[in-house]
Amino acid sequence: LGVLRGVVALDGPSGTGKTTVARMLAERLDAGYLDTGAMYRAVTLAALRAGVDLGDPDAVIAVAESADLGVGTDPDQPVVVLDEEDVGEQIRGAEVTSAVSAVAAVPHVREMLVEVQRAIIDDVVDELGGIVVEGRDIGTVVAPDAALKVYLTASAEVRAGRRSAQDTASGRQADVEDVRAAVERRDSLDAGRAADPMRPAADAEELDTSDLELEQVITALVELAAARDMLV
Ligand code: DC
Repeated sequence: LGVLRGVVALDGPSGTGKTTVARMLAERLDAGYLDTGAMYRAVTLAALRAGVDLGDPDAVIAVAESADLGVGTDPDQPVVVLDEEDVGEQIRGAEVTSAVSAVAAVPHVREMLVEVQRAIIDDVVDELGGIVVEGRDIGTVVAPDAALKVYLTASAEVRAGRRSAQDTASGRQADVEDVRAAVERRDSLDAGRAADPMRPAADAEELDTSDLELEQVITALVELAAARDMLV
């Protein structure tokens, strides 16, 4: 297959299979992996723990500034650490999921996290040569020079189905209709915010995964990377 050189930016709404696809692609191509959503989730967890009003941007910024956040880049084990505690499980809970869009809408929180994300990307590219980065604004803001930008989509039904299957698999209760409403609500908040809204970059490849198996998505991405001479 080859080893990845450069940055793959993977954006799109929730439930498109982005996380699974990004990790698997990074594993196959011996690259690093960065889950930027996990960083917004960790700041959200910190804000919930601090009991601040999520509608108060200054309070959220203060929490973000004092939080000690660590994020791993190994696709086999993408750890997320908040104040020296592994919070990988907790950041996926319903409370964080329903609050995260409010935190991700605060421009200064985004500026802080984008700066950290760029530094991580540079380090991993220096060390390993390549990285797969997933989020909402990777192709547009975080890594506008990425050699490959892909925007994953899927129908609302498919996305709700995948999310509730994931929730059930990790032991969380999930009613498909509730999940669908939550997924649509979060996507409209993420796409509708003023600061770095979720949207495809002008030069992104859009890939609808509704009717594709995971392996087919991976194959399509490997081909796109190969076509850009990113595999050595
Ligand atoms: O990918 P995820 O579901 O873990 O992302 C959680 C939230 O974080 C998502 O609702 C929007 C926000 N987010 C963002 O605004 N920008 C990113 N690059 C990644 C995530």
